[in-house]
Amino acid sequence: MYGGKIFKNAEHMQRLLDSAKMLDMDVDTPVETLVKAAEDTCTKNNLTNAYIRPLIWRGSEAMGINAKLALPHIAIAAWDWGKYFTDPDKGISLVTAKWKKAPPDCVPFASKCGGLYVTNSLNKHYALDQGYDDVLVLDWRGQVAESSGANIFALIDGVLKTPIADCFLNGITRQTIIQLAKDNDIMVEECVLFPADLDKASEIFVTGTAAEVTAVRQINEKNYEVNGEITKRMQALYFEATQS
Ligand SMILES: Cc1ncc(COP(=O)(O)O)c(C=O)c1O
Repeated sequence: MYGGKIFKNAEHMQRLLDSAKMLDMDVDTPVETLVKAAEDTCTKNNLTNAYIRPLIWRGSEAMGINAKLALPHIAIAAWDWGKYFTDPDKGISLVTAKWKKAPPDCVPFASKCGGLYVTNSLNKHYALDQGYDDVLVLDWRGQVAESSGANIFALIDGVLKTPIADCFLNGITRQTIIQLAKDNDIMVEECVLFPADLDKASEIFVTGTAAEVTAVRQINEKNYEVNGEITKRMQALYFEATQS
């Protein structure tokens, strides 16, 4: 929520419902009800700038691998989170992750499922333990995927490139950035990226609801421009979009 307005509220709630469906959960709550509930949660907690975390979980109605007997419950939490990274203006550092993204026929990768975050959390710990802010996660093919909680963009030969979301979350911020780039005549392309391609990048940033648009200053031993022209522009365009 920015200045009392929830950015892409309906898109987030629709993703929540779509994720639940992918995970065999029968939820018949309409998206409009969830949209309104998120607004009410912020109002009741006197929040105008907030991170909102809607959650559907299986309750304690039953024990067992047949999770269908444990019924879905819904909660919405909201709080003023400030910035996701400690000092985003300095840019973040990434180390190549220990754990890779699973192939798409092994997990319902398009769902924002808590279970998938076991890998992400372990990767985040791996980065922090070595003094980095986050990870560069590769997929099972060795292609660039994302970070532990955000998607990734790289400016290569004047084109903003981002990996094809065929095994990781197609972030709402990622989709927003692609659209904003197109609307503003910035060349953008979804394509296969290998780590070696990032060596050719002049600017890199990550995107996410929490991370917003954060510049990457370092990946392993290599440094990148933090105040690059396109990064600054995308940050400004995204900020503007969240305020309208
Ligand atoms: C693993 C992962 N990838 C990407 C994203 C970005 O998604 P969005 O832009 O929808 O917040 C997130 C956000 O939580 C994430 O956890």
